[in-house]
Order: sequence, then structure tokens, then C-alpha cells
Amino acid sequence: MKPELLFYGTPKPGMMDQLSPKFKITSANELDDDKAFWSGKASEIEAIAITGHGKLTDDLMAKLPKLKIISSFGVGYDSIDAVSAANRGIVVSHTPNVLNADVSNTAIMLMLAVSRRLVVDDTYLRAGRWAKEGAAPLRESMDGRKVGIVGLGRIGLEIGRKLEAFDMKISYHTRSKKYGVAYQYYSNLVEMAKNIDFMVVITPGGAETEKLINREVMNALGSDGTLINIARGTVIDETEMVKALQDGRLGGAGLDVYEAEPKVPEALFELENVVLLPHVGSATIGTRQAMSDLVIKNLFSFFNTGKAVAPVPECSDL
Ligand code: NAP
Ligand code: 8YV
Repeated sequence: MKPELLFYGTPKPGMMDQLSPKFKITSANELDDDKAFWSGKASEIEAIAITGHGKLTDDLMAKLPKLKIISSFGVGYDSIDAVSAANRGIVVSHTPNVLNADVSNTAIMLMLAVSRRLVVDDTYLRAGRWAKEGAAPLRESMDGRKVGIVGLGRIGLEIGRKLEAFDMKISYHTRSKKYGVAYQYYSNLVEMAKNIDFMVVITPGGAETEKLINREVMNALGSDGTLINIARGTVIDETEMVKALQDGRLGGAGLDVYEAEPKVPEALFELENVVLLPHVGSATIGTRQAMSDLVIKNLFSFFNTGKAVAPVPECSDL
């Protein structure tokens, strides 16, 4: 008997071909109001695979009494109630490490794009202004300047390692000091913000980090400071950020993530000191394939051995 699997989101290429020999699959996308499913087959579901950021709450888990594993596509799992899952004996797995290279590249790409006004200059050329008006204005260099990384985990460390090649002075803020790391540690985020030119945010999302980057932090980063967010939109007070950018209290921003994706505050579209990406930090063919493979590997390993290869910390004892 193949175990029953509920699939949330859009399957990645090849995923269904790998899953269907091993699982009986139901697509969750049209099930919200399907009373027959929730009063019948739901009680047989043993696994969930999820791509995207749909919310998996304790209420939902309560409706799936045989659920044993949630295999999520992505390293961040703030949309899944992992504590409730662990309390119910359900393993949540994710896709760490395989995306470190591309997400760290995206952070650095945004730093360069904002400081050198890449998009503005590209538009200047395409509009024929180079030929008509002459050379584009001079910009600020990133080399040798000061960067503070908020969140120095798998991806934050990779960003730091790569930024060393730009001769940047690197500091970081986390809840706990990281031993064996030579970068300057700030337990106080505002203090760090006062002493840097670039702030790169790469913490998890969720309640713990909600609006961590608030008005005070942005004011401390200041009119010459650049804020890069590749973590989650919720980590920054977005309304305050828009105001700070408009007022010139914050020098610039490079953003990959937003509070209510895919909605992005339109006020940002008019600002030349901002570069906007549509949540593409990990979006290369190779990395997305590696993430997809790890979603499958977590499921297969769990059903073969009782253990996922990459459980989230809340579930590591299960
Ligand atoms: P990780 O290895 O778990 O690192 C997280 C870091 O954040 C740790 O250094 C942790 O240190 C710090 N942190 C956690 N809570 C904090 C808080 N309240 N205040 C300050 N620092 C805090 O995670 P990762 O693999 O590097 O991934 C980080 C996040 O990046 C993911 O959760 C996801 O949200 C985001 N992400 C985005 C994209 C994208 O496409 N834009 C792609 C991948 C990942 P302490 O525990 O000591 O505080
Ligand atoms: C994914 C991400 O694109 O891994 C993460 O946490 O934000 C991205 O790599 C996303 O999770 C998939 O929708």
C-alpha cells in the first residue's frame, strides 16, 4: 500500500514523476471546501509536500491524524507551525545549504546594484540618454566599506566569506555570539547600524524577528546607509522603510522579499535608490533542482528509515 501524500503548491519539474511511484498523491490546492475529502481521505494522509509559502497551521494538522512528515521546499519555514508539528510528533523537513551559494550571490548582487545604480544606468543607456546627455553620474564604491550582517547562519556566513574578497569590514548581529568567527559582534542592533554602510538581513522570518529592522535601526543606518533584505519581508517594518527611503533618512535598499508577496509597495517603484527583485534569491535552475531533490530525499528517507535527512531544529529529536 502506497502512503497517502497531500501536495500543497505547484510541483517543481520532475517532482511528480519521482513521487508518484511511491505515494498516492492528492493535490491540496482545490481542497479548502471539499467536505468529502476532509471527512474521508484526510484521515489517511501520512505526508505533506509543500512548495511556496502556504500556511500550515496547528488546526490543519489536527485534521490529519495520521500525518507524520511535512517536507517543505525552501530553507525558511516560517509559514509552518513547526512547534505544533513537533508536539504532535510530526517531522518538518526543509532544504538547507543547497541554496547558500545562490542566495549569498543575490545579496552581493543587490549590494552592487544599489551602490552602483545598475538599474538606473541601464535605463539611462536604453533611453538614449548616454548619447544625448553624456556620461552617467559617478557612484559610490562598495570596496573597503563597512557591512553588518543580521543573521550569521549558513547563508550569512557565506555572504561574509564572499564579502571578504571586497575588502569590506564585516560585523554581525545575532542573538548569540558565534565562536570561531573573527567578525566584530554586536549584541545591540542599533549600535551596529550606527557603525556600518551596508546592512544585510538574512535571519529567519516569523514572530521572533518581526519588524526587527524598525525605524530606530533604519535611522541609525542613516542617509548614507544601504539596507539589503533577502530574509523575509516581515523582518523589516516595510511602511517605515518606505517613509525612510522617501525622506532620505535611509540611503538605499536592495530587496528580494516583501511583507505581502507578491504585493510590493508601489511607492518603491518611483525610487532610484532602490533595486527590487521578485523573491529570486535561490532561483537558478541548478539550485532549485537541488532543493526539489532534497524535498524528495527527505520523504524517501523518512519512509525508509524513520528519519528525514534535513529536519528543522524543532523536530530534530523526533
Ligand atoms: P540559519 O542557518 O538558521 O541562520 C539563521 C541566523 O539568524 C542565525 O545566525 C541566527 O543566530 C540568526 N537569528 C535567528 N533569530 C534571530 C533574531 N531574532 N535576531 C537576530 N538574529 C537571529 O538560516 P539560513 O539557512 O542562513 O537561512 C536564513 C533565512 O534566509 C531563512 O530562514 C529564510 O527566511 C531566508 N532565505 C531567503 C531566501 C530568498 O530567496 N530570499 C532563500 C533562502 C533563505 P542566533 O540563533 O544566534 O540568533
Ligand atoms: C524559496 C526561500 O524560493 O528557501 C527559502 O527560504 O525563501 C527560497 O529559497 C522559497 O522558499 C520557495 O518558495
